[in-house]
Amino acid sequence: MTMSGHDAVEVIAAKRDGHVLTGSQIDWVVDGFTSGEVADVQMASLAMAIVLNGMEFTEIARWTDAMIRSGERMDFSGLSWPTADKHSTGGVGDKITLPLAPLVAACGVAVPQLSGRGLGHTGGTLDKLESIPGWRAEISNEEMMAQLEDVGAVICAAGKGLAPADKKLYALRDVTGTVESIPLIASSIMSKKIAEGTGSLVLDVKVGSGAFMKDLDAARELARTMVALGKDAGVDTRALVTDMSTPLGLTAGNAMEVRESVEVLAGGGPADVVELTVALAREMLSAAGREDVDPADVLASGRAMDVWRRMITAQGGDPDAELPRARDIQVVAAERDGFVTRLDAMAVGLAAWRLGAGRSRPGESVQAAAGVELHVRPGDAVREGEPIMTLHTDTPERFPRALAALEGGYDIGDAAPSVAGSPVLERIV
Ligand code: URA
Repeated sequence: MTMSGHDAVEVIAAKRDGHVLTGSQIDWVVDGFTSGEVADVQMASLAMAIVLNGMEFTEIARWTDAMIRSGERMDFSGLSWPTADKHSTGGVGDKITLPLAPLVAACGVAVPQLSGRGLGHTGGTLDKLESIPGWRAEISNEEMMAQLEDVGAVICAAGKGLAPADKKLYALRDVTGTVESIPLIASSIMSKKIAEGTGSLVLDVKVGSGAFMKDLDAARELARTMVALGKDAGVDTRALVTDMSTPLGLTAGNAMEVRESVEVLAGGGPADVVELTVALAREMLSAAGREDVDPADVLASGRAMDVWRRMITAQGGDPDAELPRARDIQVVAAERDGFVTRLDAMAVGLAAWRLGAGRSRPGESVQAAAGVELHVRPGDAVREGEPIMTLHTDTPERFPRALAALEGGYDIGDAAPSVAGSPVLERIV
């Protein structure tokens, strides 16, 4: 028993037995874990009890607040721009932040985007941008402020001081099978976003095989929980629930996703990437009070591309540099005539990861050029022998395991399937 009257076993047992934790128990356990007084094995056990028994909203809100208070809070209120941020719960081929941040800045709202690196089958925004020669993810808080005022958009690594309790807990959850829990995911994401100090926030909650949330009910509940946490903390927060059963766009891999994002900024690119970028931009502008600007017009004007170039240059990158290309490729061809009826996001994400686009342990390096390039989308007609996708890697010994990931990952049928026009399934405000 400690001075506060709590000890770790008592808190673990309370959650194990299905009780609601008190505010004082939550504050104590989060503080104790951050300082090292609560051991990793104890927190892992508590995390599993939370996965199994859940949390009420009041517990999630208190847990989020305790994680925010474990570190620093940033403040952008001194900027001459309103601010809005976007967070995606993670998916395959999800490069939307890359065209979105410069687009929203070109519309007059600054975007302070603190991003992460990929772990497992989902790619990380920083890994993607690091395929641009010279580009730096690590910048100081002062550099971030200056760039936001000058350019209006920053995509960079979150500093060590932001929600350190979440950093430690996320690493532990990752190796103890305790990631998939609405209270833990919602508090993890929202503690970082609230501590970051954005004025408004739009959440892209993914649902489908390539997402943490596999069904719509769970995605909706996660979205509602996060929107409520944001509003409680005074951040205008809304969410779009979007489809992640098929990869976004035609690429999953670092450099190839940057190339596709630049195509979008140049007025081209796959329709679903353009659609989602513009839909999220509209939500961010509305949350920041700039409903008068149409992001589709701004995208067509080329102004978002200008901001992209300045944003990349400000962080040491060369926007005109040739992006890396893989040394080896292997084509996957259609084995029959027909229509693509399914193209599974998880299979493609896993294949891209196994080709070297992702990492299995924090700190591992990734291959900039590795990944999967799709030549078809669900609904497209194919003929036997035509390419469905091309696999890229610098280490060809990875091809067999990537091909194994794709086994059963797509179907070709006789009839054209009905295909949704937009990846946006629901809007939660
Ligand atoms: N992203 C996060 O930041 N935290 C989670 O728990 C899941 C996804």
